[in-house]
Amino acid sequence: MTIEKYQGRLEPGDAFREWLAGILADRLPDPDGKVRVYRIEPASHVVCRYEFADGVSVIGKFFGAPTGANSRYNPRKAMKNEYSRIQRVSGFIRVPGALAARSRFHAVLVTEHIPGPTIQELIAAKAPLYDHLTGVAHLLRRLHDNTRTSCNREREFAYLHKVLDQNRLTQPLRERFNCLLGAWWHSSRISRDEGCMIHGDATPSNYIANDGIWAIDFEGSRNHAHPIRDLGILAAEIKASSANARAEGFIGHLLWHYCSSEEEFRHYTRDLPFFMALGYLRIARLPWRAAERDWLLQEAEACLAAGPR
Ligand SMILES: Nc1ncnc2c1ncn2[C@@H]1O[C@H](COP(=O)(O)OP(=O)(O)O)[C@@H](O)[C@H]1O
Ligand SMILES: [Mg+2]
Repeated sequence: MTIEKYQGRLEPGDAFREWLAGILADRLPDPDGKVRVYRIEPASHVVCRYEFADGVSVIGKFFGAPTGANSRYNPRKAMKNEYSRIQRVSGFIRVPGALAARSRFHAVLVTEHIPGPTIQELIAAKAPLYDHLTGVAHLLRRLHDNTRTSCNREREFAYLHKVLDQNRLTQPLRERFNCLLGAWWHSSRISRDEGCMIHGDATPSNYIANDGIWAIDFEGSRNHAHPIRDLGILAAEIKASSANARAEGFIGHLLWHYCSSEEEFRHYTRDLPFFMALGYLRIARLPWRAAERDWLLQEAEACLAAGPR
């Protein structure tokens, strides 16, 4: 569950505060008013909401202040990458406006704040989900359709192998995965003709419901990827967060509303298990999901074992 913790105020004269006020100058009737700071958790970087007295709120994501296990990246490059990706996709999907980025302040990216629950929060609250999932499906479809290229098939398989490595499996289990992946590799699935730019980190916490669906967190966005990677990751996340009979219905609904015909639905349904396996393996490597690890690995193996059809 996302939590906002009050951290204090930014006082006048504070360099970061003055910089923020400068960016927002035309929206703030009183640039010298109070600025409250709230830390948002969980997040893999320091992420804060800055609330100005006039009801204007922005989000600061500090790439130079990682909180998760992954600190081996170039913060400045990651900041610039997310900034330019948000700008690129803002013409065809709903994303918070990217307002500014600055290396000097721990590589911060400032975006507009979108109030509203994330899909993760809606799942946790057992709130009605179907309409929101339709929104996510349409958003992903627009993202993919507007960025069509070829798919780097080698990279899709290499990524799955990398996530397997991060799971540090026993040798026999790893060999079983290698063998299953071999069958997928020699099949005609995951076509090279079906590439696009993907969101990359299609987890339920990266979609916000506010009069339609908004996507955030484009740090993991990639070009020349397979579109069903986003759907598979999201499907595995949904199954792992609402491990009950509802999940199957949600996943079918998501894919159905993503597809433009019954034929396409049948086609992409065959690619889905490969990317759902990837989704389960991504979750299985997380230390705070250790209690579910065995189940997640079994699901991943079962997905791949269903085989390329
Ligand atoms: N523009 C935004 N509007 C509202 N909430 C946001 C926004 N950006 C981030 N958040 C909140 O902060 C959390 C972490 O931000 P995110 O960009 O996803 O970073 P991380 O890479 O750490 O997951 C999100 O899951 C969401 O709850
Ligand atoms: Mg995120």
